[in-house]
Amino acid sequence: MTEQRGFVLWFTGLSGAGKSTLTNLLAPRLRERGLRVEVLDGDEVRTHLSKGLGFSRADRDTNILRIAYVARLLARNGVAVITAAISPYRETRDAARAMVEADGVPFIEVHLAASLEACEARDVKGLYAEARAGKRPGFTGIDDPYEPPLQPELRLDTGSQPVEESLTALLDLLEARGLAPAAAEAGR
Ligand code: ADX
Repeated sequence: MTEQRGFVLWFTGLSGAGKSTLTNLLAPRLRERGLRVEVLDGDEVRTHLSKGLGFSRADRDTNILRIAYVARLLARNGVAVITAAISPYRETRDAARAMVEADGVPFIEVHLAASLEACEARDVKGLYAEARAGKRPGFTGIDDPYEPPLQPELRLDTGSQPVEESLTALLDLLEARGLAPAAAEAGR
C-alpha cells in the first residue's frame, strides 16, 4: 500500500446526534482497511486534555481548539483522525479547519444533522430532561446555540437514516477523495 495520507474527519452535531456511535463503528472499519486511526471524542477529551473546562463559550472554544491542535499533529503524520465533539460554533470550527488545512491536511466536516426533537426524544444520557428542568443551564440546542455548518463536506440525517447507511456514505466519501482504500483493495 502507498504511504497513508492523514486527514481529519470532523463530526459536528447536537448531543445525541450519533457522533460517538458513528465514530465507534467507523474507526474499526478504517483500521480493517489498513489505516492508522485515532479518535478524539468530546466526552473523553474532557476527562483528560480538557479536564476542568465547562460549557461557556470560552471554554468550549478552548476545548475545540485543543482538539484541532492535536488532530493536526496526528494527521500531518499520516494518521486518520476522527473528532467527535458538538463543536457548536461556526467560527470556531472554521478556525479548526484553518489550523488543519494550514499543514495541507484535508479537513472533512461532517454534520450529523439529527434534529433537536430526535436527539431529545432519545435522550440517551438523560441530559435534555435535566436541561429542560433548568438543572443544566447553557445546554446546546436548548438555551445555548448550535450553528449548523453552511457548507459541510457531508451532511447526514442521523435522526432518520439507519446507521449502516451513514457509515456507507462516510466510507464512500473517503474513498472518493483517495483517503481510504476501497475494501477490496485494502492490504494489497
Ligand atoms: S463542545 O461544545 O465543547 O464541543 P463536547 O462535545 O466536548 O462539547 O461535550 C459535550 C458533551 O458534554 C455532551 O454530549 C453532554 O454529554 C455533556 N454536556 C454537559 N453539559 C453540557 C452542556 N451545557 N451543553 C452541551 N453538552 C453538555
